[in-house]
Amino acid sequence: MLKVGIIGATAYTSLELIKILLRHPEVKITYLGVRRTDRPKISDIFPALKGLLDLPCETIEQKEIPGNIDLAFITLPPTISMQYVPLFTGKGIKVIDFSADYRFRDKSLYEKWYKAQHTDSKGIETAVYGLPELFREQIKKTNLVGNPGCYTTATILALAPLLLKGLIFSEDIIVDAKSGVSGRGREPKEDTHYCECNENIEAYSVGGHRHSPEIEHILSIKTHQKVSIQFVPHLIPMNRGILCTIYAKPKAGVYGRSSLHDDDVHKLYKEFYGKEPFVRIKEGNEMPKTKDVIFTNFCDIATKVTENRIIILSVIDNLIKGASGQAVQNMNVMCGFDEKMGLL
Ligand SMILES: NC(=O)c1ccc[n+]([C@@H]2O[C@H](COP(=O)([O-])OP(=O)(O)OC[C@H]3O[C@@H](n4cnc5c(N)ncnc54)[C@H](OP(=O)(O)O)[C@@H]3O)[C@@H](O)[C@H]2O)c1
Repeated sequence: MLKVGIIGATAYTSLELIKILLRHPEVKITYLGVRRTDRPKISDIFPALKGLLDLPCETIEQKEIPGNIDLAFITLPPTISMQYVPLFTGKGIKVIDFSADYRFRDKSLYEKWYKAQHTDSKGIETAVYGLPELFREQIKKTNLVGNPGCYTTATILALAPLLLKGLIFSEDIIVDAKSGVSGRGREPKEDTHYCECNENIEAYSVGGHRHSPEIEHILSIKTHQKVSIQFVPHLIPMNRGILCTIYAKPKAGVYGRSSLHDDDVHKLYKEFYGKEPFVRIKEGNEMPKTKDVIFTNFCDIATKVTENRIIILSVIDNLIKGASGQAVQNMNVMCGFDEKMGLL
């Protein structure tokens, strides 16, 4: 049995993670770390866990780390995570970090967008980006995974086949993204109050959302070209789920004819993701729906070719394929378990 700990156990993503791990036959949750000091049971914080996991939470200490774990999931906010991760990696404990602290290979890019000095240079240099569909071989060999962001997962999976085949202009891409409110975390913020977000839809962080550089950075590394996107996220009155509608400009003449057809693009996606257990390509005119993927680790994708654009639509559950499900998928890859274990 793999002994796992969760550091930041009161987070939304931690509740989802615990639910998945309780179904996993090779894992035992042996440690839950929180910043409060009153040692509450996790089932007092999340009553949904009563009778399923009644483990008391311990106070996380920067000096002392738990001795009874083989792998740590860190579900803390960016800039806080990096204060804890080296304590675990330094002792040879595998780490999957949910924040942005280990998603960038370029420290200065991270520091520019997160307005903080990165204090774990070795970690940021050696971490592997935890998107198994694109980086599986590297994930198998690493002890430290930077688990991708939610918008990032939906966008990168949607764009990778076309960019890797060189079928679209890599600097002319528009991403219109919509997320349910749990994407903003459990801690209340003004725009996540019920009266503010219910019966409302609005864009936020236009031109400056932190997932934009992450998408560009990872796709540029993976496809060996400069990728540049216009990314506009919207908050919509749902608990969970993300829909990305992406507009890309096709290059002319790539298939020996003046334009691409629907069938060309559909076939490309079917082949690219043919062996992937968690990416499903829609048929015909069927469009992806958040309802079909919430509470699952699936990413559903559809493509459509119009006069002068290729439109790609993708949906995920921000808390599962966008966070905790993906983290378990990464754990399975890192530990040599069946990649689907606990998830299907
Ligand atoms: N929500 C999503 O859809 C989503 C998707 C992908 C990735 N992520 C990432 O996953 C991580 C967790 O996200 P979340 O939405 O689940 O967060 P959340 O519900 O807002 O919870 C944040 C957690 O961090 C703890 N925390 C905050 N500041 C801390 C500090 N200074 N020291 C110690 N602990 C601190 C909180 O503890 P208290 O309970 O004591 O405040 C809580 O456990 C974040 O890095 C986020 O960016 C989230």
